[in-house]
Amino acid sequence: MQIAERLTKIPPYLFMELRKKIAKAKSDGMDVISLAIGDPVEATPPAVVEELCARARDPQNHRYPTDEEKGMLAFRQEVARWYKERYDVSLDPASEVLGLIGSKEGCHHFVLARINPGDIVLMTDPGYPAYRSSILMGGGEPYNVPILPGNNYLPVLADIPSDVAKRARGMFLNYPNNPTGACATKDFLDDLVAFAKQYDIAVCYDNPYAEILFEGQQRISFLMAEGAKDVGIELNSLSKPFNMCGWRIGMAVGNPDLIAAISKVKENTDSGIFNAIQYAGIYALKNEAAFINQMVGIYTERRELVLSSLRRIGIEFTPPKGTFYLWAPVPRGMTSLEFTDQLFEKTAVVVAAGTAYGRYGEGFVRISLTVPDDRLQKAMDRIVREFKTV
Ligand SMILES: Cc1ncc(COP(=O)(O)O)c(C=O)c1O
Repeated sequence: MQIAERLTKIPPYLFMELRKKIAKAKSDGMDVISLAIGDPVEATPPAVVEELCARARDPQNHRYPTDEEKGMLAFRQEVARWYKERYDVSLDPASEVLGLIGSKEGCHHFVLARINPGDIVLMTDPGYPAYRSSILMGGGEPYNVPILPGNNYLPVLADIPSDVAKRARGMFLNYPNNPTGACATKDFLDDLVAFAKQYDIAVCYDNPYAEILFEGQQRISFLMAEGAKDVGIELNSLSKPFNMCGWRIGMAVGNPDLIAAISKVKENTDSGIFNAIQYAGIYALKNEAAFINQMVGIYTERRELVLSSLRRIGIEFTPPKGTFYLWAPVPRGMTSLEFTDQLFEKTAVVVAAGTAYGRYGEGFVRISLTVPDDRLQKAMDRIVREFKTV
């Protein structure tokens, strides 16, 4: 069967390829430890699961979701409350909040809602691979903006050629950043708003790691920047802070025109999020902030373990302070792929090659901390044993 041309332009999805590689190695009898995927292994808070179960028993919730594509008003109100409490950002639940089936859905629908065929969409390199796929599926033209260690992995907006900026209709950004862990500054966000205004670029600020921060790093929302609501939206998600990746619930907040446009896309593609999941989401936002601190405590210890193990094999770096990923330089003289391949062959540990996130990811690998402590310890023991320099 012939498939649509738009799909032939899309590179294979990194994690699907990795999953296949891991499954094959496991079926060959290897004890594979994957540090490649960011999917928390600890359970969702039990009370959130209880809330889901109770709500799932109510036949009212077996019908199409309330308010369908927008998300139920109670969920949108709770999101607005959360934004006020966590970021001191005021939102109108009626026009500035939309429930999403995860922030990934928001990335895709942002393109459909804003981008015309042939429009340029700026995205960072390295960057989350789904941006490129969403841009290509929507008929847009991705333009890579490098983010490099020398500028703390923030794009240098002044380096974007003005003819490109003039043709750009959208821009994806994500801080705390997957894969580098870098965090944005308030000054950068102010510059971003000014840049977006100057060129009429709609910003899609993808912020699912907003809460995963270390060493006193302050949490930050794009909407904290003056005028941000005039130029864009922020995507957020319950996946990472509440260990709810599988539940598929998130939100878009910000510019009412974009929210209405994305709502229209959703109206014509899905009928919203299962009510019982929205109730569970409300419960998590209302009651489980302490759970986030607990998880960050766990990630802090794992982060230390990985950093100290890497030091023992001669890899030393100061990591940025966000996300549950470590973006580590590979040993001198090796490419990212050579190192990941060697690591896999010698230790059966899988990490993601930096180049999977773009060509400026060369020289790095991404290590995820979302694995059980004992497995991480085992992975590090194997790595130290095989790669120790002294
Ligand atoms: C930058 C970024 N955006 C979006 C997502 C998807 O999040 P969600 O589960 O909310 O769809 C991920 C998941 O890894 C991510 O890293």
